[in-house]
Amino acid sequence: DELMNKLDPSRDLLLTYNGVRTLMSRYLMKRLDGSFFETPQYMWMRIAMGVAYSEVKYGNDPIKWVEKFYDLVSQLKFLPNSPTMFNALTKLGELSACFVIPVDDCLSKDSNRDNPNCFFGIMDAAKLAALLFQAGAGVGYQFGELRPEGDVVKSTSGVASGPLSFMRLFDTLVDVIKQGGKRRGAQMGMLFWWHPDIEKFITSKTGRLKDVQLQNFNISVTIDDYFMTKALRGEDVYLLNPRECTCLYQTWGQEFIKCYEECVSKVKAGLVKVWRRVNAGELWSKIVESAWDSGDPGLWNRDVANMKIEYVNDVVSEKYRVINGTNPCGEVALYPFESCNLGSINLTKYINGNSIDWVSLANDIMLAVRFLDDVIDSNQHPHEYLDRANKASRRIGLGINGWADVLVSLDIPYDSPKAIALADVVMGFVARVAVRASVELAKEKGPFPLWPSSKWRSGFLPWRVHDERVSKMLEVKGVSSDVEEYLEILKLGYGELGGLPNKAEEYLAKLRATDDELIKDASTVGVRNGALISIAPEGSRSLIAGVNSSIEPIFAIAYVRNLSIGKLIEYNYTALRKLKDSNALDNETTSKVLESGMLPSNHVMHPVLKTANEIHWRWHVFMQVTFAKWSDSGVSKTINMPSNATKEDVNGAYRLAWALGAFGITVYRDKSKAVQVIYTGVEG
Ligand code: CDP
Repeated sequence: DELMNKLDPSRDLLLTYNGVRTLMSRYLMKRLDGSFFETPQYMWMRIAMGVAYSEVKYGNDPIKWVEKFYDLVSQLKFLPNSPTMFNALTKLGELSACFVIPVDDCLSKDSNRDNPNCFFGIMDAAKLAALLFQAGAGVGYQFGELRPEGDVVKSTSGVASGPLSFMRLFDTLVDVIKQGGKRRGAQMGMLFWWHPDIEKFITSKTGRLKDVQLQNFNISVTIDDYFMTKALRGEDVYLLNPRECTCLYQTWGQEFIKCYEECVSKVKAGLVKVWRRVNAGELWSKIVESAWDSGDPGLWNRDVANMKIEYVNDVVSEKYRVINGTNPCGEVALYPFESCNLGSINLTKYINGNSIDWVSLANDIMLAVRFLDDVIDSNQHPHEYLDRANKASRRIGLGINGWADVLVSLDIPYDSPKAIALADVVMGFVARVAVRASVELAKEKGPFPLWPSSKWRSGFLPWRVHDERVSKMLEVKGVSSDVEEYLEILKLGYGELGGLPNKAEEYLAKLRATDDELIKDASTVGVRNGALISIAPEGSRSLIAGVNSSIEPIFAIAYVRNLSIGKLIEYNYTALRKLKDSNALDNETTSKVLESGMLPSNHVMHPVLKTANEIHWRWHVFMQVTFAKWSDSGVSKTINMPSNATKEDVNGAYRLAWALGAFGITVYRDKSKAVQVIYTGVEG
């Protein structure tokens, strides 16, 4: 009864028409006859109850937390990832949005008990993936441990079919499973740059295979700083067989380089079969060409991911001591069997006129971290390895939503130094308060089990590592001027922000969330969560919250989104309001916006309302890396380009992202795929 009284039906009015449509299509529970079992407010309450239930385990009053969580989500201030909304308090009980599953070089561990390299075989991975798709989650895999096509298979004296053929198996799996699930399982397939099948992988979704093959996969080439240096210098590299040099995927950074060079010596001495010697610059050009043609492959830098993670999660098997892959959209680099427990703060709720309400923002970040931490205990996974890995690291992924709306309401163009500096201030605030929240939780509930051996103990903060790496890049020929430009822009932007950064810092000091205080407490008291910050795409959550997704610029002021639930005509309401308030929405402007989704370039409001394809890729990358600085897991962002962008543009964007410390990068040239999810304009 207490909780029933708490339900506030007037909050349904916060939802937009498309928000309600989205909830009705998949989120609200239905009876067997198809009628609705819950209204939005009941749904928020169900989610709050399902998550707060974990508090019982720690001797806390769950009702108190149900009320707080309900207030947070029902006002659309914070939304957890979709599976938490789908499955909280239901029989499925899987609350995580995504996973990384290992694919070891064997069919199944059942028939390979004495092979130390076979802990979780291809079919073991396929089975687990199917169960996760059923719950609406996505899965990422590194296929680079598989021996190349044409290699020997001892047990059958046969010939290996290689990673690509197995990727097709997983692709079909999604087609088959999607019938019964809430949504089609998204997948990420990766391959190391040194794998002998890398060229086939790079072109596997390009040219005549575009829009045909691997349609249920995003693909990314796993790169590292070693490869990038070779590529920039146009030097040769060897492609190597992972079966013969297993340390290639069990090490990273300097250790990897040592392993790689040893393996190359073996090749040269004839001890290991020569696969191929290729020019790294040519390999790079192939990647760029394919990405220009079809958007695939993206890049993912394994060095950045491992450098910024705070712990090693080898509780399931000692074999998995390195992060070799990410979830489907790239925002969470995970150890095998770990999951992403995502949630995002809707920043539009904390803008008051021209200022930011730091106090409410901090309070809600604290609550959001607790919510996500509780998700870990309420979660029910379909395999005990998932349970073990996730309880050991207790990683969460707090992100933000509605960034473009914030910039529009503050009259700041997305492609301006001021916007980049504001991103740095706001995300810095979110990340630091999140660590403080996690320290407070550690005091109350204990640090995450892997904390004693983690980098948190030695004064490590991921954003500092990022800054150190960017400074080192100032010395690297070919990219140093890019790095200088970025740092100059940031400085300029800070100058234009006036007293705003100081206000944020003052409040951080009050919360004891300055770097010094955080280092002191995280190394002595501990933190509750191994990793904390992740910028997800917010595909559905942005629709439900009625804001522009994640950190993306406005895609268009008016646009059509083709989803499985039907065609949604959407408007960016912040932009429309801005135009209306400024008396800038005359008939001519209205018809132009309806037709093309954009403002004419000579319109007075155009600079603040530029859309994704009108913003130069350099600014897209600058924005992405500014958020990446504060993340320990990853950032999902699309670097949009107009359809007439050149290969040199793609080359430039990929290189810039690497130089500035991005976890990875994906570009999309307008209309480069036959079917797009979003089209600008709603007429014509
Ligand atoms: O739906 P929601 O807004 O909560 O999720 P998102 O931020 O768009 O995506 C978060 C993650 O969920 C993605 O990176 C995928 O790993 C996973 N996902 C999926 O598996 N299938 C989808 N159709 C959408 C997202």
